[in-house]
Amino acid sequence: MRRNWPPLPLLALCLLLWLPATLYAQEPLEREPLAAEASNLLSYIAVDYGDSVKNGEIQDNSLYEQQRRYLARALELVRQLPDRPGRAALENSVLELDVAIAEKRDGEQVRRRANAAADRLAALYQLQRSPAEMLPSADFARALYVERCVSCHGAQGQGGDRAPGLRDPQRMASFSLYDLYNILDPTVDSVHGARIDGDLSSRQRWALAVTAANFAVAGELPPTSQLAQRYPALIGLPGMATTRPVELPSEAAGALMWWRGHPQRVRALEHPLARADGLLQLAETAYRGGDNASAYHQLMLAFRQGYAPLREQLEIRDAPLAAQLSEHWQALRTAILGNAPNAEVIAAFQRLRTALGQARARLEPPAGQSRYTLWAALLFATAAALGLLLWFGLRRRNSV
Ligand code: HEC
Repeated sequence: MRRNWPPLPLLALCLLLWLPATLYAQEPLEREPLAAEASNLLSYIAVDYGDSVKNGEIQDNSLYEQQRRYLARALELVRQLPDRPGRAALENSVLELDVAIAEKRDGEQVRRRANAAADRLAALYQLQRSPAEMLPSADFARALYVERCVSCHGAQGQGGDRAPGLRDPQRMASFSLYDLYNILDPTVDSVHGARIDGDLSSRQRWALAVTAANFAVAGELPPTSQLAQRYPALIGLPGMATTRPVELPSEAAGALMWWRGHPQRVRALEHPLARADGLLQLAETAYRGGDNASAYHQLMLAFRQGYAPLREQLEIRDAPLAAQLSEHWQALRTAILGNAPNAEVIAAFQRLRTALGQARARLEPPAGQSRYTLWAALLFATAAALGLLLWFGLRRRNSV
């Protein structure tokens, strides 16, 4: 009789999976330029605070005053952002940061708080912090850098009287590539007059961000491919654009500094399905931000650049899964094009990403598996040999 009860753990699991989907089932959100500006101010605070206060003492009064102004402005911006669940918590985290700075707390603590507030802001207001296309290489912007930036920042990013250097590894480690990109957006940051960056395309800004990130690692050797395997999220988008090296363990931080300065050299290391997942993550962010056109564009890129190269291989390895994936891709495409209800689209994203995760596992058996099979075979052979020996031994003894 008991067996006929529905399995409770399964029900609980369904509930757990269903709940987040309904939470996100809200209307598409407006994009928020004010949020990017606040994020830019918070990133400056994170980077500069350590130089303005040490051991509870102000080191540089004008820099300290600038931090307080930046924070007041960031708070003002956050208060102007449309209200939505989570905004009160965001405002609180900015207020706590204000207290920490007023009390001249430890630099490390202030940096963490400022960055955490910026990340919360980005999540809540769907900031698109990564390019849809692959990151351009530094070469793409070399001429532009010479023309527009060298006079202040120097040919090797060494800086000068008019501008800070761009190659101090410690300072650059505190910026994500997105933070650098933001600095070059005149609607977000006003330090470079319109003459310098007012007319740049988004792609040129990403290329200049890569150029700036490249100075700190110029002449250094690339990280090993083991590191790329250990930190797969950092060799693809959006991880490479949104992660601040300073928040990583030191080996990963060093590797990310190099990778993001040489995106064209890293592409070959990236697993196509990891690329598909990264692009789907971007597509989902764009969709949640109400930008269906760019969500669709990124979905198609994910299919072409991430899934298509491996489709045949998957069909051979696991035909039912490949068939299921075809359906998921198609369903999501139709849902976005047909303006399906929000919750339906988000659920379709989740189904597709889960199935892609399974495909990845199918295509590359865990590293230990082949070794495990070998050991199992050896063990079996040894046991069989021992058994035979024993059997022969017994037969001989019996026959004596
Ligand atoms: C007229 C001089 C000038 C020119 C030209 C200029 N910058 Fe700057 N740049 C500055 C100043 C000054 C700052 C410092 C802003 C601050 O710290 O508040 C800065 C800051 C930066 C930063 C942040 C660095 C840090 O450590 O805070 C980056 C990145 C940057 N510039 C990149 C560029 C790029 C790329 C170009 C070319 C498109 C460029 N700059 C052109 C003056 C200039």
